[in-house]
Amino acid sequence: MSDSKDNNQPAAAVEAYQQATLAIRSGYQRTHEAEHSEALFLTSSYVFDNPELAAKHFSNEIQGNVYSRYTNPTVRAFEERLAAMEGGEQAVATSSGMAATLSIVMALLQSGDHILCSRDVFGSTRVMLNNYIVKFGVEVSYVSLTDLDAWQQAIQPNTKMLFCETPSNPMSEVADLEALAALSKKVGALFVVDNCFCSPVLQKPLEWGADIVIHSATKYLDGQGRALGGAVVGSSELMEKVVGFLRAAGPTMSPFNAWIFLKGLETLRIRMQAHSANAAALATWLNDHPKVTKVFYAGLEDHPGHALAKKQQSDFGGVLSFAVAGGREQAWTVIDNTRMLSLTANLGDTKTTIVHPATTTHGRLSDEDRQQAGIGENLIRIAVGLEDIIDIKNDLQLGLDLI
Ligand SMILES: Cc1ncc(COP(=O)(O)O)c(C=O)c1O
Repeated sequence: MSDSKDNNQPAAAVEAYQQATLAIRSGYQRTHEAEHSEALFLTSSYVFDNPELAAKHFSNEIQGNVYSRYTNPTVRAFEERLAAMEGGEQAVATSSGMAATLSIVMALLQSGDHILCSRDVFGSTRVMLNNYIVKFGVEVSYVSLTDLDAWQQAIQPNTKMLFCETPSNPMSEVADLEALAALSKKVGALFVVDNCFCSPVLQKPLEWGADIVIHSATKYLDGQGRALGGAVVGSSELMEKVVGFLRAAGPTMSPFNAWIFLKGLETLRIRMQAHSANAAALATWLNDHPKVTKVFYAGLEDHPGHALAKKQQSDFGGVLSFAVAGGREQAWTVIDNTRMLSLTANLGDTKTTIVHPATTTHGRLSDEDRQQAGIGENLIRIAVGLEDIIDIKNDLQLGLDLI
């Protein structure tokens, strides 16, 4: 009988696979039980046969599991699979997307450094940087995601990190990853991309020159709105520092959540394709709708970020926003009169979600910041799910009929 069946999936063979196969086959070593589906290791610590072995594990003379804040087989499987999909040397899992951002700042920057960040990043990212990170002597400033001159002009001698999220939330603006990577390299700063909206299926920022990718796994990596988690991906040299912070400080991923994300990665490709197809169909329909004044979706040919998104993404993703004729009252009327769409801030779920950014996800921004970002009172964001597109349109029509 052949003994070449790849039961323990040697790394050399796995690395040669395409991304769709890596999503299903990489990152996991079967145990002696020969289980077909990946096992969940719900254990906080690990036992040793004798004191000498315990001592060698604790002193790192032997590499192995000691305690689940340090390593856990299920968490490691998720990390290895995500790293393979992003094309990074190493991934590190965190307890949430925000913990991923916190860990890179704490591990890689120090007092006196400057972070240059795109203006339209996730609201909590801004709150964390503005209210907490600055307390440790790290400077933060913001620029328009799409204005390369503004990025260049805002560079300071102490700029050590450029941080962006693309496509942006909720306006679907697109950053030029190659240009920002070149700028970062020129000034000796790290380039970090929040790849939450695209996932590695639609965009691989490391291939465009980014140093670090971060994720809120809570979104598409899970895909069904069940668990909080995050991840950081990059070179082993950088990740070693991030691991050091996480082990000491503790915002690591729970094994149970890692198991959910590990299995989520297996279906990520077909889900992202289906999210993108539904969003494209909805964007086209809204674009022709008489009650809609503007649709913001990089998949539309007249969107300013369309050509760039086409270059660096394999599809346009599941999130779009649109402005209705009128103001807050009309936007709320539309949202209030849909029956199926879920009024919730989360995204990346099989269930379509709808939200009024100006009074929820982006409510904490100053009026000036909201205006600069183009987030009007008449704007509605939709994270298009996987229900039948006919039902999504019909549900929105219930609201649009009333304005
Ligand atoms: C783009 C983006 N980055 C980061 C986060 C933070 O992730 P988490 O909620 O998992 O902490 C979110 C959450 O909504 C997000 O949308």
